[in-house]
Amino acid sequence: MSPESIRFDRAAGFYDETRGFPPGEDRHIAALIAQAAYLTPSSRVLEVGVGTGRIALPLAGHVGAIVGIDLARPMLERLLAKRTAEPVRVVEGDVTRLPLAPGLFDAAVAVHVFHLVPDWPDALREVARALRPGGRLVSGWNEGDRGMGESALWRAWDAAVGAITRRNVGVPRERYRTFLEDEGWRPAGDLLVHRYVTRHTPRGFIDQIERRVWSSFWRLPDADLARGLAAVRAAMRELGLDPDQPLEHVARFNVQAYLPPDR
Ligand SMILES: C[S@@+](CC[C@H](N)C(=O)[O-])C[C@H]1O[C@@H](n2cnc3c(N)ncnc32)[C@H](O)[C@@H]1O
Repeated sequence: MSPESIRFDRAAGFYDETRGFPPGEDRHIAALIAQAAYLTPSSRVLEVGVGTGRIALPLAGHVGAIVGIDLARPMLERLLAKRTAEPVRVVEGDVTRLPLAPGLFDAAVAVHVFHLVPDWPDALREVARALRPGGRLVSGWNEGDRGMGESALWRAWDAAVGAITRRNVGVPRERYRTFLEDEGWRPAGDLLVHRYVTRHTPRGFIDQIERRVWSSFWRLPDADLARGLAAVRAAMRELGLDPDQPLEHVARFNVQAYLPPDR
């Protein structure tokens, strides 16, 4: 039996608070996705790993309909609680076995999901099956949203606990830019990038570790968490970082459209 995907049931209560974009940035990101996939007000879009609708809800204004699929019912319930008139429907299901007929969608969207799916090549085949001929998959991912201070704190964590604790079960971090091409998907159009400023305090960063908000921390033994936290706190003092002074840096949200491998 293959290992299981990381589902976000436990994150539903804190996902938007910890992963939300700064106010207004979601509109720019949705516009970039619409541009990359040539979306129109009649487009039918599938979002795999839709979560709380962080992408789908702002994207809905550009399209005719979105179907969002996710393993985690509590995440979908969050989406439904936020939805007003947006044409977004949700389906509880697995991207490696889409419970959908073939060729239904003009485009598919995947943002921060394939790193959670051990069988991600199967998932890609399912996405290809769901697309109509000529339909595009838009992959979106964040990059570079760590300033020097936060990077130093992560280095302290890795030195104390091991970077392996942050290893993905699915697509590895270093393959985010290449994994689709490695599987035969063809880039369609340029990489589009939206830059925006984020602000995090060191105290907030430590608080997020303590609360295990990132999925790679969910299976970490308590003793490892305590050791890592001690190292991060020590690094914060050594670096002279004010725990409450926000560290400001530029985040990049990347958007790249792809056409599926030739069938
Ligand atoms: C990091 S969240 C991203 C949510 C959304 N795309 C966004 O950018 O805000 C990943 C989501 O993928 C879901 N997920 C993980 N494995 C999945 C699978 N095999 N099939 C469907 N959803 C999956 C999780 O439950 C979670 O809601």
